[in-house]
Amino acid sequence: MEMDEARDRTVLSMRPPVRKKFFREKRRVTFGTIQIPELSRRLIGDILEMARISSGKYVRQFEERFADLLGVKEAVAVSSGTDADILALAVLHDFGAKRGDEVILPALSFVATGNAVVHAGFKPVFVDIDRKTLNIDISQIEGAITEKTRAIMPVHLMGKPADMDVINAIARRHGLYVIEDAAEAHGAMYKGKPVGTLSDLAAFSLYVAHIITTGEGGIVTTNREEFAEILRSLRSHGRACKCKRCTLNTASAYCQKRFHGNGGEDIRFVFERVGYSSKMNEIEAAIGLGNIENYLDIVEKRRHNLLYVLDRFNRFSPYLTTIHEEPHERIGPHAIPIIFQEGASFTRAELTHYLEENGVETRTLFASMPTQCAGFAYLGYQPGQFPNAEYIGKHGIHIGVHQDLGLEEMEYVLDVLGRFLETR
Ligand SMILES: Cc1ncc(COP(=O)(O)O)c(C=O)c1O
Repeated sequence: MEMDEARDRTVLSMRPPVRKKFFREKRRVTFGTIQIPELSRRLIGDILEMARISSGKYVRQFEERFADLLGVKEAVAVSSGTDADILALAVLHDFGAKRGDEVILPALSFVATGNAVVHAGFKPVFVDIDRKTLNIDISQIEGAITEKTRAIMPVHLMGKPADMDVINAIARRHGLYVIEDAAEAHGAMYKGKPVGTLSDLAAFSLYVAHIITTGEGGIVTTNREEFAEILRSLRSHGRACKCKRCTLNTASAYCQKRFHGNGGEDIRFVFERVGYSSKMNEIEAAIGLGNIENYLDIVEKRRHNLLYVLDRFNRFSPYLTTIHEEPHERIGPHAIPIIFQEGASFTRAELTHYLEENGVETRTLFASMPTQCAGFAYLGYQPGQFPNAEYIGKHGIHIGVHQDLGLEEMEYVLDVLGRFLETR
């Protein structure tokens, strides 16, 4: 025992001594954070004790809590936000969509949105964005519709709701589905309703940088039970089993339905559709259950940070701009987007370098998928076709507003930005 303690002390003393100080002094404004609340720790202990790691009762509980939070009938948890996008789109194959049919989406998003359309078996048809909202330009959607279009996939980028009334009206006129990419929009409201409840299906990311996190993970929300059943099949290889509560995951480990497929087959090995392997596991769900307990507190803190900066951002006009909250909406506090003016006397690299040097972590504000991401070159789009998305792809960044930051850090960000502009 004594020897163990002595060895522990030696090992501890070998850790880099300045690490904590470095983070406090240099890395003042990090992009993301993760907390493992007491509840999560307790549940993880239970999961390890039971040695029951793969999707089970805690995933189900997490789904129920998430659905309640939004006020939707169904929430189906998966292994990432990208898989949430893919599976939500793949549901459409059960409703007549063919491989190669088209899905309309904004040119600017995190590349996962475009990747998901391809992985679900569709052709992405990109539409430019509105530079003020960073969201799909609603005036260009109808021009992109063809007889092969099956769905519109708006993205609520940086938590700012896309104009869903207009998008839903276009979809209704043309008989299309609408699937929201709500990866960044936890806590966002549009005309009094939560984002993620405004269309046929919505996909959230639960990655660490997002408001409710499971570490890695995603979740699809919908009010249609038939969609949820298909999602449960899709996330598990397209199996014929799609019950909301799987009795095989309970102590009884017996399922009455199992050997009643056509000809008495085990329905676990009847595959009804091309599926994926995208389940969430119990440890991830336990992290999510702990975080969801603190959801209101997290959203409030993050909104406080975000609005503090947005309300003071005019001082940088016209050199730097950001988004604004309109009376009909509540922005989901994901991050602060910053866009710099055309013809400015500095480059994005200079701005990000200055921020990073001064302890403010930055992320670029993504790219025009069709013209700035090599993976989509096969579609044949040419640079210049998406001027607004391409502009943001070269002139945009975003920085964190997470719950472990406060007004002191937000004031610091404003100060660093001000100092940067003074030196230009
Ligand atoms: C708009 C958007 N869609 C999809 C995703 C994919 O989520 P994940 O990283 O959990 O796969 C992200 C990730 O942050 C995103 O920002």
